[in-house]
Formats: sequence, structure tokens, C-alpha cells
Amino acid sequence: MCGIIGYNGTDDAIPYLVEGIKNLEYRGYDSFGCAFDKGNSIVIKKDIGRVEDVINKYKLQNLHSNRGVFHTRWATTGSVTVENAHPIMDCTGRIAVAHNGIIENWTELKDSLHGHKFVSNTDTEVLSHLIEENMKGGNTVVDAVKTVFKKIKGSSSFVVLNRDSNELVAIKKGSPLVLGLAKNGIFISSDVPSFVKHTNRVIYLFDGDMAIIGKKHYKISNLISKKIKHNVSIANFSAKDADKGGYEHFMLKEIMEQPGLLKKLEMSDFGEILKIAPLLKTASGVYLVGAGTSFHAARLGARMFRENGINAIPVQGQDLITYKNVILPNDVFIIISQSGETADIITALPIIKANRKIGIINVEGSTLSRAVDILVSLNTGPEKSVASTKAFTLSAVYLTLIAAATAGTLENAISDLKLMNINMYNLLVPSVLAVIRSAAEKINRLDSIFFLGRDYNYIVAVEAALKMKEVAYIHAEAIDAATFKHGPIALVSDKTYAIAFVSGAIEKETLNNLQEVKARGCKIIGIANKPQDVFDIFIRTQDAGRFDFVMQAIIAQLLAYETARKKGLDIDHPKNLAKSVTTL
Ligand code: AGP
Repeated sequence: MCGIIGYNGTDDAIPYLVEGIKNLEYRGYDSFGCAFDKGNSIVIKKDIGRVEDVINKYKLQNLHSNRGVFHTRWATTGSVTVENAHPIMDCTGRIAVAHNGIIENWTELKDSLHGHKFVSNTDTEVLSHLIEENMKGGNTVVDAVKTVFKKIKGSSSFVVLNRDSNELVAIKKGSPLVLGLAKNGIFISSDVPSFVKHTNRVIYLFDGDMAIIGKKHYKISNLISKKIKHNVSIANFSAKDADKGGYEHFMLKEIMEQPGLLKKLEMSDFGEILKIAPLLKTASGVYLVGAGTSFHAARLGARMFRENGINAIPVQGQDLITYKNVILPNDVFIIISQSGETADIITALPIIKANRKIGIINVEGSTLSRAVDILVSLNTGPEKSVASTKAFTLSAVYLTLIAAATAGTLENAISDLKLMNINMYNLLVPSVLAVIRSAAEKINRLDSIFFLGRDYNYIVAVEAALKMKEVAYIHAEAIDAATFKHGPIALVSDKTYAIAFVSGAIEKETLNNLQEVKARGCKIIGIANKPQDVFDIFIRTQDAGRFDFVMQAIIAQLLAYETARKKGLDIDHPKNLAKSVTTL
């Protein structure tokens, strides 16, 4: 995915766009580019590398314009080169296009364009030349964009800056675009945090919507209707929620926000949960669908539902298609997603078109949040660290509460949540943080680490291993502690480290498994609420009963964070990754 922000208004656009694009860097950070109006021409500046560096290189802060579009790229079609950075111009220098998505038929379209000079190796450039081609003979840029939009296959949203008109034109399919209505101008962006400092009045565009963005007015239409009216929403977070709040990294800020968010949850009315529970009780099956970290939350949820007698099946978005012959009309689907934009899930939606869908989603107005019948909004505020932390915890907690509601024990679960919130005060204390740092000191030079646990603890281990991989670049493999003896134990030596999660009913069995591993030389870092002889390093969690996973996950997130920090890595921008995965 990529990040796009444009502004058209009477204020100077450049400072807004410089600040805004930095806020969108979580969406991609291979290369940066911008296009803006200057007199009678469009100026383009772009380069590979991080946004801040390119902005400083061109001293963009010193430039002025009232209309422009900025782009931060996560390469899909075409490698990371200056030429492939967006925006990309047509042959005449009249239009510049910033794009987020993939044009599946771009090579065919490129072949159909004769006499055009291509300078990049991207699908995006096809848009620029096709628009140019369709403006020949006096067509407006708006007509040209519509015509081109009809021709392209795949999911693509893009913003066009046209030298000869006073507007920006944006069109959406797949990747998000949202308008921000500010006092002296209008923003168009991939995400609200990029402009929320200037306005919280937003309009989320739907697939097929085209917005013509003037300095004071906008018009939304689509291929069928000449004018569409969408409601103006008020963003449910402020600029403060979208910055680092004094922390060195977003990841740390977001980890540390969790106790406050869980406290806030304790005080909500749980109306949605009470609505959802009866639907699940009468469903033939409940599928919990997610990707990556959200899939791990789905696994935890499914385990809890099964405990309460519900036939729950956790499924990764891309695998949903393999269930197409067994899905029944009254199966219910719970979709878990931080971004609400994960392509693996969006693509699978047609298979479950007729089924009831519940969303547990963080980003308001996102594609998935609109595709569901009932939405549980995570309300965690923007999650900007590529490594998901607070969205995981909150989704899994919501699922725990929903599972309890299906068993008629929601009140007990809320009491447990309150108790956990009290115990949370003892979790992130200096002595525990010091042990986490010393554990990070021991493991940060390793090439490989095992993550062990059984049952619920195993699912936490899988999530913990993912965090370690993505931010600390250590090969981290989660294995069920009971499975370890069935083969993987052959890998153990006195150089091996395992991070073990121990709690709950299978504590005794887990400890037996850990003894077997330790007997073969493996060092064990135990994440548990009481010390055990088998642990070489003990990181204390607090007893939280059904919410033990929350305590464990927070410790595991911090361990990954501290390990990456020790290695001096760019924690909020891990290599090769982007925050939401909008490709298949
Ligand atoms: C989490 O740390 C990852 N970056 C990634 O696995 C993520 O959870 C996954 O891509 C799903 O994203 P979503 O929750 O936005 O759907």
C-alpha cells in the first residue's frame, strides 16, 4: 500500500502536506514524491528513501503552493527507483498522478498506448498517459479520469493534479480515500490522522466515488450518479492521539496505551456485544476471519467460543475460499482487522455475501467496516506502528467478552476485566521492565528463538514470535510445547533460547515439556505469573484468569520492542513491511 495526501485551498498547502505525508509514512516508506502547482506549471520532486530525508533534500519546507499532492510508496509494480516514485506525469507535463493500488491489466493498457514516452516501470504511469490520451480533443480531466477508471482492472485509488484547472480529482476503488473539510481548504488523503490537526470533519469515499476538490467546494459523483451526497463524519480521535506523545517510537506509545484503553473499555455499555451473542448462539458455525496478528486474535477468540459450546473456526482471509463448499446460510462471520483494508479478506467477501457479518475493526470508514452488518469499533485511536499491538489486545478482549456473553457470563467477564485492570498497575513496573531489558540483552544477537506454550499460551506464543520477527528481524518460531517433543526438540542445543508462556490449566504439562527442553541445554525465558525452577530468566506477569493472554501479550510486545531497540533498528518502519497489506 501507499499513502497519498492532497490539499487544495487558500492556505499554503506545502506545510500541511509535509506534515501530513509524514503521518502517512506507516503506509509505505520506500520512496517519496510530490507534485504541486507553481504558476503555470506543475513542479515534481521525488526520490527514494524516507520522507523526511527527501523533504530536507529538496528543502520543501521553503516552497509555497496552494494545491498539491504528496505520496509515500510501498513498491508493488516496479522496483524502488526515483523514476518509479509517484506522482508520475504524462508526456505533456499537464497532469501528475499519485496512485495507491494495483492495475492488473496495465501491460495490455500500456501496449494500447502509442506514441507516449514512458519514463517509469510502474502501472501508475499508464494512468497518466491514458488520462492524457483521453483529454485529447478537449475532454476535461474529469471525463478522462472517468473513462480511464472504467478501463482499469484491480483495486486502484488515485489523485490527479491537473495544471490547467483549479481542482484536484480523486477516484477510489479498494484503497481508502477520505476528504477533510478544513476552514480554508479541502484535504484528500489515505487516512484521517494525516490532516486531523486541521479538521476533524471528514467524508469517507466509497468504491466508485470520484471527488472533484476545489478550494472551497467539493463534488462527489460516480459512474452512475452525477452528484452523490455523503454524510460528514466527525473523527473520533484528535491530533494528540496521532502523534508519538513523547515516546521514542509509536510502537512503545501504543503498547503503553493499552492499560488506559482497557480501562476505558471497562466503562462502555457493551450494547453491541449483547446484540451479537444471540446471533452466535443460533449459528451453525462461527468463522473468525483475520490476517497476521488479527488472525491470532481470531484464534484466541475461536478457542474461547469453543469452550462455550460454539462451533468456532478461525480462518485466515486468504483461506476463506477453501471453505466455500461447506459454508451454511446461517453461519456467522466475525471479521477482525485493525485497518479494515486487508486485501486477503476483502477479496473473500463475495463468498460470504449472503451470510451475517460482524466486524471487529479499528479504522472507522474502512472498507471492511462498511461491509459488515454489525460493527464493533475498537476505538483504540490510530495505530501507526507497523507492528500491531493495541489492536490485537483489544480485539482479543472483545472476543473474550463476546464469548462470555454467549455463555450468559458477561457480567463475570466484566468483573474479571476490572480485576485485570487493577492488576495491570503491577505489570509495567520498573523491576519488570528491567528484566525485559536484560532478557533483550541476552537474545538480541541470536539468529533464532523458539516461542513455546500450550493451548491459549501457544496462541500468544505465535503472536509473540510474529512481533519478534517483524521488529527485531530474528527468526522466531512458535511451537506448541506439547508438539516440541514430536520432532523440533532435535534442534535444541546449549545455544538455544526459548521464550515460554506458562499459565492456566495446563501449567503442569507445560512445565514438564519445558524440563525436557531444558535438559537438552535450552535456556528458558519464562513469561508467567509465578517463578519456576525451569526458568533461566523470569518475567513476571500478573494473574488475570481468562485475560492472562493480555498480560502475556504486553510483555511479549515489550520484549520484541526492547530487542529491536538494542539492535538499533527502525522499529516503527520495519524493512519490507507496510502497515496494512492491500495486495494479495
Ligand atoms: C501485525 O503486527 C502485522 N503488521 C500484520 O500481521 C497485520 O496484523 C495483518 O497484516 C493484518 O492487518 P489488519 O489487522 O489491518 O487486517
